[in-house]
Amino acid sequence: MRATLDFDLATPEAPPQASVDAAIKLLKSGFLFRYAEMGSEGNEAALLEQEFAALLGRKYCIAVNSGGSAIFLALKAAGVKPADKILLNAFTLAPVPGAIEHLHAESVLVEINERLVIDPADLRAKAKASGAKYLLMSHMRGHVADMEAVAAICEEFSIKMIEDCAHTMGATWNGTQTGQFGLAGAFSSQSYKQFNTGEGGLIVTDDEDLAARAILMSGSYMLYPQHAAAPSEAVFARWKGAAANHSMRMSALVAAILRPQLSLLPARNARWREVHDRIAGRLATHQLTRQPQRPPEEDYTPTSLQFFMEGLSQPQIEAVIKDSTAHGVPIKFFGGNTPQGFTSRALHWEYVSPQPLPRSEAILATLCDIRLPLGLSNEQADTLADVVLESLNEALI
Ligand SMILES: Cc1ncc(COP(=O)(O)O)c(C=O)c1O
Repeated sequence: MRATLDFDLATPEAPPQASVDAAIKLLKSGFLFRYAEMGSEGNEAALLEQEFAALLGRKYCIAVNSGGSAIFLALKAAGVKPADKILLNAFTLAPVPGAIEHLHAESVLVEINERLVIDPADLRAKAKASGAKYLLMSHMRGHVADMEAVAAICEEFSIKMIEDCAHTMGATWNGTQTGQFGLAGAFSSQSYKQFNTGEGGLIVTDDEDLAARAILMSGSYMLYPQHAAAPSEAVFARWKGAAANHSMRMSALVAAILRPQLSLLPARNARWREVHDRIAGRLATHQLTRQPQRPPEEDYTPTSLQFFMEGLSQPQIEAVIKDSTAHGVPIKFFGGNTPQGFTSRALHWEYVSPQPLPRSEAILATLCDIRLPLGLSNEQADTLADVVLESLNEALI
């Protein structure tokens, strides 16, 4: 009898009761928009910004409507102008180059290495050759690059780094949290991230000008004094006429759902890591799999699992995936000819000018990915591993 997983891997983690209670209270009050002209003391969005800034050890925080908006606004508030070049690791998700396209800027794609993170040597070479003054460092699928090496290259070439921390809420490199290395960090609370509010994004920074511009651009109108984790009036005075309103605010309802989840982060990450390592350990026993290395400096927060299917052709990999999906474990594949679901790679982004990326293409050609819902029990995690191992065995017959 073949193992079959009877659990939908797309099941998001439901917000806790405290989120439900806060949301109902707010719904009853009617104050769903974060700004009120009579002042909005105790507004959920302003409180969230204070709490999130404290969590990240940053001075300022701006809550917005999605992770993609957070990236767009952080880059724009950092000074990106149309036609500016922005370095970006080639392994990321479509909303990341999408944010660059939204700015009418130009993505300069940087090769990744076998750890699925930016290759510092290629970053250095492309920084030098392109003259780019921005790096959008995407910690894709929770894999954290050698951030000291990356920061040193940024310093050498006077590059402003914005971090995309959509998959690394709470992850660290050598004890420093992602979101603390760059000029700003952008986070997402879309349902499959560490926090689930359906949609949502957050920017953190210590830069007062970036913070004031991002607040104004997010759509604060002249109600920006209602922000608590924000710079002084003098800083806003420098920007308030010049910053366009892009209407990307976070609603008070989303903030109310998010706030009670903040304190759950350590326990959630610990459980995610347990489930990840349990399955990864089982898959590692199979001759057709290899996993990206995790150096000791990296404290990772996985919400999904990545592995390479080695020694198989593309049709063979696709046959394994079909078999495993039929047994309840949909594996995602970054090497497919067309983008599927949330997965895609650089050659699928037709709005980005084609760039040779032989190393990244070779790495992604066998990269597989499995979503790990937090609700997965140990028994279900073992069944998941059994399904994948048995599907791989089928390929050996
Ligand atoms: C790596 C990465 N960055 C950014 C985003 C954008 O986040 P959002 O969906 O909240 O716009 C995503 C979305 O899943 C992502 O995977």
